[in-house]
Formats: sequence, C-alpha cells, structure tokens
Amino acid sequence: MTPDLLEAGARRLQEHQSRAQHGGQTESGGRSAGIGRVHRGQGPDFTHGVALYLDDINVSFDGFKALNALSLSIAVGELRCIIGPNGAGKTTMMDVITGKTRPDAGTAFFGSTIDLLKLRENEIAQAGIGRKFQKPTVYEPLSVLENLELSLKADRRVRSSLGSRLSGEQVDTLDAMLSRIQLRGEAGREAGLLSHGQKQWLEIGMLLMQDPALLLLDEPVAGMTDEETERTAELFLSLQGEHSLVVVEHDMHFVEQLTQGHRTVTVLHEGSVLAEGTLATVQANSHVVEVYLGR
Ligand SMILES: Nc1ncnc2c1ncn2[C@@H]1O[C@H](COP(=O)(O)OP(=O)(O)O)[C@@H](O)[C@H]1O
Ligand SMILES: [Mg+2]
Repeated sequence: MTPDLLEAGARRLQEHQSRAQHGGQTESGGRSAGIGRVHRGQGPDFTHGVALYLDDINVSFDGFKALNALSLSIAVGELRCIIGPNGAGKTTMMDVITGKTRPDAGTAFFGSTIDLLKLRENEIAQAGIGRKFQKPTVYEPLSVLENLELSLKADRRVRSSLGSRLSGEQVDTLDAMLSRIQLRGEAGREAGLLSHGQKQWLEIGMLLMQDPALLLLDEPVAGMTDEETERTAELFLSLQGEHSLVVVEHDMHFVEQLTQGHRTVTVLHEGSVLAEGTLATVQANSHVVEVYLGR
C-alpha cells in the first residue's frame, strides 16, 4: 500500500460521493455507512468500570412487550455474548442502546454519565457506540482500502477532508486494520467482489476505524463458512480490552469459541434476562433448556 494509492483512493471517493449526492444508491443493504461524523462532545466516563448499564427497560409494540423489565450491565473491555430464541428481544435491545427505539420506561447509561435515552441516534454513535447490523453495509463500488479510508476520514477525532493527504500515522493505521481484518491481500479489490464473510470483516474494520468504546454486533457470523466463523472469533477475541463488545449470536459453536469456558453469556427470553453465567451453566439451566426445546 502506497500513499499514491491512498491519494488516488481519496479522489475516487470524492467523485463517488458527489455522484451519490445526485441520487445514486450505492451502498449494499440500503443504508448509508457511518460517515459524516462530527466532533464527539463530552466523552463517556468509564472510571466506574461500567461500559453499559440497562435497568428495567420496557418496550411495547401495540401492547406486545418486546422488552420486559430488561436489566443488563456490561463491564469496560468485556466481551459479552447474548443468546436467546427468535423474538426474545435481542435486536430490540440494540435498537434501544443505539437510540433507534425509545423505551416506554427504564434507564440506559453509556459509562456512568451518558444518559442514552436523552440522545439521538447520531449523538450516540458520536459518543462511541458502534453497531454492526446483520447485513453487510459497505460501499460496493469502492475498494477495500477506500472503504476503510472513508471511515478514517469521517473520524470525529481526525476531521480531515476527503481530499486531504493522509499522514504517515493514518497510513499505518489503515495498514494495521487491513491486517487485523485479514484483507491485506484484497486492499485494492472492489468491496462488491468480496465474499460475504469478507464484507462483514470490512464493515467491522470500518466500525473499528471510528474506535468505538462499545461495539454491538447482531448475528455477525450468520451465513459465514466455518473457517470464516473461526477467524471472526479470533478477531473479536483480539479486540477485548480495547473495546467492549456485545455479540448477539445463534451459532453455539461460535459462542463457545468466544467465551472460552469462562466468559459470561446472557440468555434473553420474552424481553428479559432468563439466565446469565458461563455457557455450560446456562446450557444446564432447566428454564433455558425448556425455552430452546419448547420451540
Ligand atoms: N417495530 C416493531 N413493531 C412491532 N413488533 C416488533 C417490532 N420490532 C420487533 N418486534 C417484535 O418484538 C419481538 C422481539 O423482536 P426482536 O428484538 O427482533 O427479537 P430477536 O432479535 O431476539 O429475534 C418480536 O416478537 C418482534 O416481532
Ligand atoms: Mg434479531
């Protein structure tokens, strides 16, 4: 990867963006990727060791309780897996954390000072909560490197314009991310040509370029091959300590890899926490067995 290649990428990005402004829908998944960040306001306070605190959260849809007195706490640097049958409220929980859905009642804090229920979606993203949706959302006509560069340049801490030259440090950051998401060999390739798993990694890389303190991942390995799933587990394990991670997943083998026998798993059922503990503990819990087998 050379600075020239990066500068060429920046030009193509600008062209792409001006085209996109004139009505071209170019992102996969029909959503726009996380660009256009502005400077982060008051940062989160993690001195109490809590990354995320949810208490007594209730969400109703036409009288149906999607979340029912949900309480959950994630420690700073923790990697937490959340499992539960379809309809348990896992995605709705992420919608509440990211401001997409407002609960009818409850408390939601990011760190000990940021009241998530008072912030809008974009403000929550700026405060440092990243979210990976199930479907990959990358700019398909752009290269892998250009996608990452776009995220870097949208970084609230960098605030450089798209056409500006990258600093040596930025080049190093991009390079390190390419290695981290195992796409070094695909840097110049159009994102649309990647495999499903590679697109997911690219999007995770784009989220990581924004350095979110908390990253929410909704079924990240759905549709991946076994090998891709294993590599994803390695990637997530490599992030622990640097970021707090909440991973919603159905794939028990993947959850096993992530928890490595000791990390906490939360089981959601009918909008509340049914059980919490190691994977072995929750799998031996008769209520959990009933919920899974009863379906
Ligand atoms: N916008 C909505 N309107 C009505 N019902 C919804 C909406 N979003 C989710 N639900 C319902 O809330 C419940 C929880 O959904 P969801 O959070 O998607 O579950 P999970 O992700 O655990 O499968 C489901 O019964 C779902 O049908
Ligand atoms: Mg879901």
